[in-house]
Amino acid sequence: MTQRRILVTSALPYANGPIHIGHLVEYIQTDIWVRFQKLRGHRCVYVCADDTHGTAIMIRARQEGRSEEELIAEMQKAHEQDFAEFDIRFDNYGSTNSEQTRKICLEIWAAVQRAGLVAERDVEQLYDPQAETFLADRFVRGKCPACRAEDQYGDHCGQCLTNYTPTDLIDPKSTLSGATPELQSAPHKFIELEKLHDFLDQWVHSGDRLQTEVANYLKGHFLGEKDNPENPPKQLRDWDVTRPPKYFGFEIPDFPGNYWYVWFDAPIGYIGSTLQWCEQTGEDFDSWWRDGGSDTEIHHFIGKDITYFHTLFWPGMLSVSDFQLPEKVHIHGFLTIGGEKMSKSKGTFVKAATYLKYLDPSYLRYYYASKLGARLDDLDLNLEEFATKVNADLVGKVVNLASRSAKFVQNVGLSETYPDDGGLFAHAASAGDEIAEAYENCDYNKAMRLILELADRANPYVESAEPWNLRKDPDKAQQLQNVCTIALNLFRQLAIYLAPVLPRLAEQTGELLLKPIEHWDESKTPIVGTPVAKFKHMLKRVEKKDVDNMIEESKEPEVIEASGAAASQDSDQPLKDEPLTETCTIDDFAKVDLRVARVVAAEDVAEARKLLKLTVSLGGDERRTLFAGIKAAYKPEDLVGRLVVVVANLAPRKMKFGTSEGMVCASGPGGEDVFLLGVDEGAQPGQRIH
Ligand code: MSP
Ligand code: ZN
Repeated sequence: MTQRRILVTSALPYANGPIHIGHLVEYIQTDIWVRFQKLRGHRCVYVCADDTHGTAIMIRARQEGRSEEELIAEMQKAHEQDFAEFDIRFDNYGSTNSEQTRKICLEIWAAVQRAGLVAERDVEQLYDPQAETFLADRFVRGKCPACRAEDQYGDHCGQCLTNYTPTDLIDPKSTLSGATPELQSAPHKFIELEKLHDFLDQWVHSGDRLQTEVANYLKGHFLGEKDNPENPPKQLRDWDVTRPPKYFGFEIPDFPGNYWYVWFDAPIGYIGSTLQWCEQTGEDFDSWWRDGGSDTEIHHFIGKDITYFHTLFWPGMLSVSDFQLPEKVHIHGFLTIGGEKMSKSKGTFVKAATYLKYLDPSYLRYYYASKLGARLDDLDLNLEEFATKVNADLVGKVVNLASRSAKFVQNVGLSETYPDDGGLFAHAASAGDEIAEAYENCDYNKAMRLILELADRANPYVESAEPWNLRKDPDKAQQLQNVCTIALNLFRQLAIYLAPVLPRLAEQTGELLLKPIEHWDESKTPIVGTPVAKFKHMLKRVEKKDVDNMIEESKEPEVIEASGAAASQDSDQPLKDEPLTETCTIDDFAKVDLRVARVVAAEDVAEARKLLKLTVSLGGDERRTLFAGIKAAYKPEDLVGRLVVVVANLAPRKMKFGTSEGMVCASGPGGEDVFLLGVDEGAQPGQRIH
């Protein structure tokens, strides 16, 4: 096999919050991939860094009465410790606030200017005169311009759900200082991404750099398609990449007093961290990052919320500055817990450090691996399943093989030749390629399934051979040694296949059999005639009480004010994408049963702000009751007798005021402007529409 040169990154975590188990989906996913590549004998380097710039860090440092540098140093130390304890092993962990990152920023900035991509224009924004900084929407609160509810966010009313801009707010206040913000104008520099449209079009479609659903999402939402009149090319928006003072970041030399926006320098941190690693190890930087200079593959691992930055903005920047483009951007979904978003009040917003107080990191590594596929689906952590799966699979099926056999050969070691095992070892060895392919494709769920199938073959062998009985009969000493030689070799094979996920188990296996696991191909040959160390305990069962205690300790009141939200996300970040939603295929769409229906009764739901209760007829005796949020647009009496379009096969949904058995189709921006889709009076209730 030829040795590949692979540079791998995970997204740079924000310095303004702790690492939590949602982040760990990504860092564990990446670490497994990196360990897999290393075990296969490839040259693989894993770099990451803290993402340190932006308003949030500046404000927090100010509130804590210390410098930003001191704050980010402390956060970085905590992050690095969490990662290390979860066995996430970086070759270099840097910071975006480094001289190396600054140097590359300068270089890329010069290149985008040379390419004629930078334009300057004034931007009007609210400014907090007391805090001396411009305010992102979420740092402004005031009275809603639509319904006059007090204390609403700068961009959205929680009461009437209207969206607006912060300048529309009545009596706005800065949440940083309480001061009344003023509208001020300042020059900003923009990158005109549209000028790279053709390049990006081609990039998105070349090779298999992106998962199919991602390429489709980019085509559908941002790029459009040249030869498709239904989705013609769309303009890419200019990107505002500078910030006026005060800001925590790198000052731009040819735009004095202004700073690069945090999302400009964040991905450059990948290169900065690599440069730092090269300086420390004497590696040749150009051979890792310069375009055309090498056969290095660059792989980024990110979550779906930051897709835009990594699939359009970032390749655009790299292409004009002659850095190497990523070979692949691997995008994963979001963590939910028990089917819901992580929640502080429910105790499911679990910090890495809290997890570690109660549970073994191997459990989470294995559980995530067993859930991660190659697609962008969200991943659900079900706490009961977590305990059952780890106990049944790892303790019950894997470690068990060793714990039930190792002690019987502690004094004699393994047999001199590998005994007849009925083909078990050979079968498991031949499964190696398929398992490797699943790892390579980030289809860990499949890899775990294949490995566990092997465990399911090995266990019945040990059970029927009963080494614990053989040892009672001195005449069966050789047979006992043979059985244990087989059991331990089958165990070691599993430990090799699981090594990317469970590095500690691999290490313990190396200690037990006095031979460290160093290469994937060791799964092809059994070891014989070597001593066996005294068996040491490997992995204990998950106890429910530990899981409960971890959740209990994680419970906190949910903070909804702006500065609270800023703790986990960058405040100055209007551009974080809407999490990418999956496309609805034509087959999905065909499942929707759209039918003509006649409204036979309509009444107001007095307790609800928006709802009307409708009874519709689908022809014959078929009636449905449904609730529609159209109170502001229609009087109930005007609806009776009208023909409308309904989704007739929507699963019934329990609502506060009754069960809704369908949905009426409507369009319009909302509020008073909602238009029910009607149909021609000649139509018959019950008729299907497609
Ligand atoms: N600082 C930016 C990334 C800059 S990369 C040049 C950022 N930081 S983050 O701390 O918010 O997130 C870091 C990574 O963790 C992102 O890829 C994000 O998608 C991922 N996750 C954060 N919360 C997550 C879940 N709840 N579930 C899965 N992944 C999540 O974005
Ligand atoms: Zn409102």
